[in-house]
Formats: sequence, C-alpha cells, structure tokens
Amino acid sequence: MLNHSFVLDALEQTAADTFSHFEMLIEDHRNHSGNGPSKLQQLVPSVGTFHTHLPLRNAFIAYNKKYMLTKRRFISISFNEIRHILNLAQIMAFRDDHESEGFKNSMHEWEKSPGMFHAMKPASVSDLPPLILGETANVEKRVSDFQPQDSFEGPKMITFDGDQTLYSDGANFEQNPQLANYIYLLLRHGVNIAVVTAAGYEYNVERYQTRLSGLLAYFKEKKLPPEDCNKFYLFGGECNYLLSLGPDYKLRPVKETGPGGWHTATKFISDAPCNWEESGVNTILDIAYASITDSVRDLKIRGNVIRKKRSIGLIKATDRDIPREALDETVLRVQEKLDESYSVNLPFCAFNGGSDVWVDVGNKRVGVHALAAYLGHPPDEILHIGDQFLNTGNDFAARDICPCIWICNPDETTYILKSILRLAGVPLDTFIEDRDEDNDVIPTNANDVKDATDAATSFQSTFSTATFRNELVSLDSDLNAMQLRKAHGGSRNDVNSFFLSSRPNNKEP
Ligand code: IMP
Ligand code: MG
Repeated sequence: MLNHSFVLDALEQTAADTFSHFEMLIEDHRNHSGNGPSKLQQLVPSVGTFHTHLPLRNAFIAYNKKYMLTKRRFISISFNEIRHILNLAQIMAFRDDHESEGFKNSMHEWEKSPGMFHAMKPASVSDLPPLILGETANVEKRVSDFQPQDSFEGPKMITFDGDQTLYSDGANFEQNPQLANYIYLLLRHGVNIAVVTAAGYEYNVERYQTRLSGLLAYFKEKKLPPEDCNKFYLFGGECNYLLSLGPDYKLRPVKETGPGGWHTATKFISDAPCNWEESGVNTILDIAYASITDSVRDLKIRGNVIRKKRSIGLIKATDRDIPREALDETVLRVQEKLDESYSVNLPFCAFNGGSDVWVDVGNKRVGVHALAAYLGHPPDEILHIGDQFLNTGNDFAARDICPCIWICNPDETTYILKSILRLAGVPLDTFIEDRDEDNDVIPTNANDVKDATDAATSFQSTFSTATFRNELVSLDSDLNAMQLRKAHGGSRNDVNSFFLSSRPNNKEP
C-alpha cells in the first residue's frame, strides 16, 4: 500500500492512514477470540503475538516529522524505515498517557533530536570521545546528576542479545561509553537489565566477564551503587546459566536450587531447564551433531563440529568464512531433523550466528520467561532487543514471550536506548550535544569509524540503485519479516547488509 501511494505521489495524504489501517488490524488480532483466524492472520498466516498495543499512526507521524519521508520524490519508504517506525511504536507503547503534556514534550524532544540516519554520516577521528574511561567522567558528569524517577515510564526489564546488539559479532564489549552510559542510566532508574546470549560457557565466569569487560569497567568507573548492580544479569547458553553482578562489579552464578534459587522460582514453567531430563538434552545434541556432520560432508564445508554440554556448534576450520548460504542450509536441515523427531521434547534453537551455526538446548523465549518469572515481571513490562529475528536467527524465539525491538548493530541499540530514556522523560542534554552537534551516535573506536564509514557508503550506494528502489518493501502483503525474507530469497544478512559491510573473521565461539 505504501509503495502504491508512493508511485501515485499520494503518500503525503495516505501514508498515515495506511499505518492506521495496520494499527487497527493488529488491535483486531489482539482482541480476536472468535473461530478461525483473525483478519491479520488471513493476510499473514505466520503472524506472531503482539504483547502490547502498537500506536503505529502516531509513530509514523513522529518519524515523518523527523525524516520527512513523504517529501521524497524518488525514494519510497524502505524496509529499514518501516522497522524503525515499528520499533518507535513499540517504545511508545510503554507509555499509556499519550495525551499528557509530559508525553507530548518527550515526543517533541525526540522529534527535534538528530536521528538514526544522521548516525550514518562518516565520522572523523576528531569526533571521537576519549578512549580512556576516566577522561569521559567530566563530560558525563551532568548526565549522571539526575534524580531517579519513582517509577520509570518505560520497560521495567530490558533483555539484550549480545553479539551484534551490544558489541560486534564475535567481539567483546570494549570501549563504547555512550552505550554503557545509557545502560548505566537505565539501571539507575530501576530497570532490570539482562544480557540473554547464546554464548554458553557453563559457569566459567571469566569468559562472560571478558565479553562484557568494557561495560563492567564502566559501571566500576561510575561507582554504580550495589543495589543497582543487583539489577544486572547475564543468561548464558540462551537460558542455561544465570549470573548476576555483585557489588565488586564481577559476575557470579545465581544460586539454582533451594529457597531463592532460580530453578526453584521457575519450576512452574514446564520447559524451563529445571524440568529437563538429561536424556532429553542428549537426544537433541545427538541429532544435531549427526545432522551438522552430514551437512559438512554434503556441502563440503570447511568447518569443525564441536559439542558442548548444552549445544552443538559448527565453526570455520580455516581463515575463510563459511558461505552464508551453507550456514543457512545447515540450519534449515538441522531444524527439520529436530522438528520431525518424535523423541525431541525440549525447547531448542538452531541458528546462523553470522559466521557459525549453533544448536542450543533451550532458547531465548525460555531465557526471558525464566528471568521474568524470577524477577516478577509480566510480559508487557519487558522488552527484548536483538539482531536476529529471521527464522534462522536466535532472537526470534523471544517474540513469543515479550515485545521485541529489531536492531541491526550496536549503534542502533544505542539509539534505541536513547529514545527509551528520552520518551521516559530522562534529561539527556549533555553527552551528545557537548561533543557533536549533528550526529546522534558517535563511533567509539577506530574500527567503528570504519564500520560507520563503510555503512554510510553501502547505505548510499544501496539507495542509489534503481533495482533496489523497485524492491522496496510494500506493507500491504506482509508485516512479517520472515515472509519478507522468503519473498527476497535472502536471510539475516540481506537485511543487515544495508548497514553492515564487514564482519570480523576471527570469531571465538
Ligand atoms: P548472541 O548473538 O549473543 O546470542 O551470541 C551468539 C554467538 O555466540 C554465536 O554466533 C557464537 O559465535 C557464540 N557462541 C559461543 N558459544 C555458544 C554456544 O554454546 N551456543 C551458541 N552460540 C555460542
Ligand atoms: Mg546476536
């Protein structure tokens, strides 16, 4: 519908109505209790659960005020813009006082602040914030001189995927003071934060700490109070290993059994790890190992298959990346094997991790559910932020249990957190404006500068091709990303490649 109106040069009049139409379809779907599928389900049979109302019309109007989409003559609304509008609607949904002055002011602030696409401007090295954490302290001082609100007007629990959401694929959270600062601010405002990652190292605390080293150092530098440290968690292996942050800024395993144990608190969730039989775990691992080994042989993949206590992985055996097509094929084959086996009775997740394939016992639906149960949050208080929402990705499972935000790199995560804080009315007046008047998201190290520059180039060149313009997504047939993927015959990388032009080669699983 959007494409149609664009071609007829009628977007200015019709675009908001199109978003209203989808808002109504989603609301109808949410309230649908009759026989047969809802209207939305008839259009999109694979449509998932909507955990909150989505104010799509208002989100579009706000987004359009900022980016003037309807003024464009040659470039119609893109998939990424639709994704951003849905993300904005999801954040707006956490406030139910849309008519209040407070909310209107927050939206006004959001509209006039620089936005995500401004972040794609190549940055110069002189734009960079200091690389030494200590040097950032003065710049950020005023940001942290805030009065915590009694009740934060946004999600009460935010779960983050790790790779490609908080840090680049296969890398660690090193220097990213802006993202660290927003997470710090959320903790100070009483929000429970958890990294829910597939990376599973049992309770080998050091390895998780290494992956989050820059973030934990930032908390230490800012002297995050012990009661707020207590609100920070990490779920490793999707839902297998729960750790929390101690007052010494180190992670430590959360007690599993007995009073107050997380296994004890999640006994009522039938597919939580505390209810798994070891034989069920081994069934999944055995089938996965055999299927992936077959794929390696059939597709002549130069890779090694490894077995962990709760997962099977395929990682590259040489310096050369395994082709994305081979990774996706391997995932879909093993998914099929596990789906059709009657002996599989536990949740699992088979996914393409960007340069590897993993089958984990458990998934992020179970991880987020278990943590929400442990901390006492209902679904509409939770937000999961991740990069893998295609059917070969591992954030997809979280959609069943809570609202989700689909980002495609850590810069977008930073921008989303900034929007959440802004819409919640938290003043954010210094960190950015003091440093850069045009850019919202400033890359924080030399690699990120390169990424941003590459991304800008790839973004511009993508948009300049006529072919791409013809492929821009129309919302009328499909709101669902999976179907979109099928229509384009692509995968995770097709979407991400709008922004990502390179991946590190040396991933450590
Ligand atoms: P996520 O994006 O934070 O969920 O992390 C996914 C990445 O973690 C994968 O692509 C792997 O490179 C890495 N990883 C390390 N150990 C495991 C494991 O046991 N299961 C799944 N992924 C793992
Ligand atoms: Mg990820």
